[in-house]
Amino acid sequence: MMNIETQLSPRDFLIRYQKVKRPVVVRAVPELAALSEKWQPAYFATQAGDTEVMVNYNRDGFYDHMRSVRNEAVTRQAMPLHEALTKIEAGEGSYYLQQLSIDKSLPRIKNDLPELPWLGFRRYVYIRNLWIGAAGCITPLHFDHVHNFLLQVSGKKTFVLYPPQDSRYLYVNPKVRHTSMVDLEQPDLDRHPLLLRTSPMEITLEAGDLLYMPPRWWHHVRSLETNISVNIWWNPRFSAANLHILWKGLKLKLFPPKLPPELRETKPTNAT
Ligand code: FUM
Ligand code: FE
Repeated sequence: MMNIETQLSPRDFLIRYQKVKRPVVVRAVPELAALSEKWQPAYFATQAGDTEVMVNYNRDGFYDHMRSVRNEAVTRQAMPLHEALTKIEAGEGSYYLQQLSIDKSLPRIKNDLPELPWLGFRRYVYIRNLWIGAAGCITPLHFDHVHNFLLQVSGKKTFVLYPPQDSRYLYVNPKVRHTSMVDLEQPDLDRHPLLLRTSPMEITLEAGDLLYMPPRWWHHVRSLETNISVNIWWNPRFSAANLHILWKGLKLKLFPPKLPPELRETKPTNAT
């Protein structure tokens, strides 16, 4: 059963969810109210309509980038954001703007994002992504390696979650181990009978709700109507995982790898 909260202090979040790696939904987060009101599709068109973005296309609305489930390609197309919005709304799921870095691609509106009481200095944010889709957009079953806050800004989205312990029943793609080969839109129990042993949790998010997914929790996501989400990937600042990533970055800065001779800049020689 998914835990649902209407108020959740940072301390309770840490103890009851983050530390024990349990997902939770916080309904009607007050910090999200202003964002939900402001971030309608028309707002993006006026604020950043000319920004070039990459939009994903799949005729069936099934965004299986790793081809773990249906072996159908997802193609990516560059276009101005206003055109992407028109295509998304007209396309019945066949276009999906996924994982667009708000800080990198939409700096003019990044300050609209609220400070969340569950983040702050103790946690290190890697990226804040924008998602815009219409009814029928599917992100098939996979997990992420870091902590995830999914903020539902407008419209409805359904999430099906499975705990990491269910991995043995979820037909993991041996070549892409964070994706499953199961099609939860058309489950086939003859091919995937172990699905009967899993413990899914299903939850529909509405505008203003927040979902916390701990690392390695499986999720399958279905848009029920035109909707906007933001997802934030983070880790505890002082976790081993995060220190490892920070150390790798620091090492690259301190000890940059030597370029092979053919790529080194040649010193200008004095013309004779
Ligand atoms: O489609 C989605 O909203 C997917 C989100 C996620 O995988 O984190
Ligand atoms: Fe994910």
